Amino acid sequence: MSGSFPAGFLWGAATSAYQVEGSPLADGAGPSNWHVFAHTPGRIAGDQNADVACDHYRRWPQDVALMRELELNAYRFSLAWSRILPEGTGRVNAAGLDFYDRLVDALLAAGVKPLPTLFHWDLPQALDDRGGWANRDSADWFADYARIVFARLGDRVDDWMTLNEPWVVVDGGYVHGVHAPGRRDLRAAALAAHNLLRGHGLAVRCLRSEARGRIGIVVNVEPKDAASDDAADREAAARADAYMNRWYLDALRLGAYPDEMPAIFGPAWPDFPAGDFALIGEPIDHLGLNYYTRSVNRADPAAHPTGAAPVRQDGALHMLTGWEVHPASFHRCLLWLKQRYGDLPVYVTENGAAFADPPPGADGRVADPLRVDYLRSHLQAVRRAIADGVDLRGYFAWSLLDNFEWALGYSKRFGLVHVDYDTQARTVKDSGRWYAAFLHDARR
Ligand code: FCB
Repeated sequence: MSGSFPAGFLWGAATSAYQVEGSPLADGAGPSNWHVFAHTPGRIAGDQNADVACDHYRRWPQDVALMRELELNAYRFSLAWSRILPEGTGRVNAAGLDFYDRLVDALLAAGVKPLPTLFHWDLPQALDDRGGWANRDSADWFADYARIVFARLGDRVDDWMTLNEPWVVVDGGYVHGVHAPGRRDLRAAALAAHNLLRGHGLAVRCLRSEARGRIGIVVNVEPKDAASDDAADREAAARADAYMNRWYLDALRLGAYPDEMPAIFGPAWPDFPAGDFALIGEPIDHLGLNYYTRSVNRADPAAHPTGAAPVRQDGALHMLTGWEVHPASFHRCLLWLKQRYGDLPVYVTENGAAFADPPPGADGRVADPLRVDYLRSHLQAVRRAIADGVDLRGYFAWSLLDNFEWALGYSKRFGLVHVDYDTQARTVKDSGRWYAAFLHDARR
């Protein structure tokens, strides 16, 4: 089944800075808003934090060796803005840049192509103190940070991603308050979404004018089905789709927000300067898609802010996060991207699953057959999408390592590699071995 992937296809795994690095304040780094949030009692399951996480900040040579062992030819990671600019703007902390410089060199030496993401949710706290993404200046702060990173790494990095999942930043951080910065303010949320997109556009322009390479953005898409044929349920599913799937992509690719947005936000929806959409729509070179699941929705006026409530599908397989395993929707989603937004090289920048893995056995194995099935069925969907004409260029499993799963702490393991958080021992799971064998064949 591993045949029929295009030559040069990137086979990788993904992580993000705050989830794996640990040592968040080392070597002159400033606190990020996730550091502050995780140290606020009651915010994270078990009051856990990422002070240690996978200790990747110190063990990265071992982790690069793991990538080689898994035969990956690419690695998606993110940079911690607050390591590089401890106050978010202004003074550069050389040691922070040095860390990513060494990592990029080691990846290239190992034959692993780096795919860095500039922002995977950890904003310098100093910038949150100034209003975070709800402040219109945040777009310029981000572009200034991007410029510094491009200047240092741009000679060796061919492909960049600006933001990871702006929808989650806004929904988790500004609508529901379950992620940093923990706000519940629809007006701030709409402004934050807009400024994230403006920041993305400015970073794209900055790369074009000052560096070489290709650049895009990572979005999460989750197909929204209606729980019944009732008009109310169908309209609810359409609102959920506008809110999660089209809000960012329509602005990026079609030059306007979806028609449903003002109704979802009510009086909190701002009047956006029309001129901003040219910046947001600055042409990109590729798109990153994170896909995990779909959802089935029914109308429920109490469901904030869309009035659409997810309905759990009895009899389906669910991950520990409650997400339904539904590979057919992955294929559907890849085709939808092409149909609605046109031809654009696409990387699957995250895809994976959390199940209740056993600890490593005496034989050194971690038997995770459900994750093997998940990968197999989702790679099948990727292959079908390629056959159907989707311009797919790479696939990154989430995640290389078990890691700090945001508000859920360490309770949900998505890794191809098991991490013992007491000893930091890494053990390749059966799924990691399966993936390595799969891509070994795919490259033959
Ligand atoms: C995505 C995030 C990633 C990870 C996975 C499980 O939304 O981008 O950091 O938490 O979910």
